[in-house]
Amino acid sequence: MAVTSRLRHVIESQQFSRTLLEELFARSDEIKREPHHFIGRLAGQVMAALFYEPSTRTRLSFEAAMLRLGGSTIGTDNAREFSSAAKGETLEDTIRIVSGYADVIVLRHNEEGAAKRAASVSDVPIINAGDGTGQHPTQALLDLYTIRAELGRIDGVRVAMVGDLANGRTVRSLAYLLSKFKDIKVWFVAPPQVAMRDDLKAHLDEHDVPWVETEDLDSVLPEVDVVYQTRIQKERFTDPEAYNAVKGIYRIDKKALSQMRKYAILMHPLPRVDEISPEVDADPRAAYFRQARNGLHIRMALLDRLLA
Ligand code: CP
Repeated sequence: MAVTSRLRHVIESQQFSRTLLEELFARSDEIKREPHHFIGRLAGQVMAALFYEPSTRTRLSFEAAMLRLGGSTIGTDNAREFSSAAKGETLEDTIRIVSGYADVIVLRHNEEGAAKRAASVSDVPIINAGDGTGQHPTQALLDLYTIRAELGRIDGVRVAMVGDLANGRTVRSLAYLLSKFKDIKVWFVAPPQVAMRDDLKAHLDEHDVPWVETEDLDSVLPEVDVVYQTRIQKERFTDPEAYNAVKGIYRIDKKALSQMRKYAILMHPLPRVDEISPEVDADPRAAYFRQARNGLHIRMALLDRLLA
């Protein structure tokens, strides 16, 4: 398959064209179907994973993706404590050093804008694996890939984003990607304390994507094709009372599921705490574990696109 669009750093969803998304999804399909064709594609190349915030899925799926393509990985978990950041080294200096050791750097950081700062000094591609409350573009890639795989289309989908929308970088990145498709409609379901930020709503307005803001999940569930549930992010709250006021506010259980359309899907970037009851895991509409698995293939496609 010919790859036509340029891509160096992966910082935010806005940089992906629809053409590039379709190329990545097709490559991901190919990897899923014929993984043996991709063995050794990145032999001799090294991926550095610098994680200043905790992760299970992003860190391990990127590592597995690189290893399955024949490359190697280096890195540090809890980089705030275990890298020279603990001695006062700046992010920029760390990136200058690591870009001399690796062919690509996957960076998760607690500060919004960190990936952009890293890209400005890096000799090798930077992949934003989540920057504070900013963006998580590779999560959005796997989310959109999941919608396409589960529903057979992206154009025309009706999506409810639920929970902590102010702090949720995954919902922001997904909304930016959805705005590249036709006839999308989005519902933002959140209490005012964690409502979607105005810059994202302005972006949807500019791209003629209709959106609705509500606190009433029950009224939205029968209307949509995708329920994208998110965790209230305790770690982003400075005031415990403010967290207590919104924690547990939306919970998808069997009763909530019964209000969803028969062919709708329930997604979640994970980890979940209590916002999806385990009793719904066995329902075919519960797509979140399949969604997480798609992260491996989409990240293999992305690494292949950047490095092969
Ligand atoms: N969805 C996601 O980013 O999960 P991790 O924090 O486990 O990487």
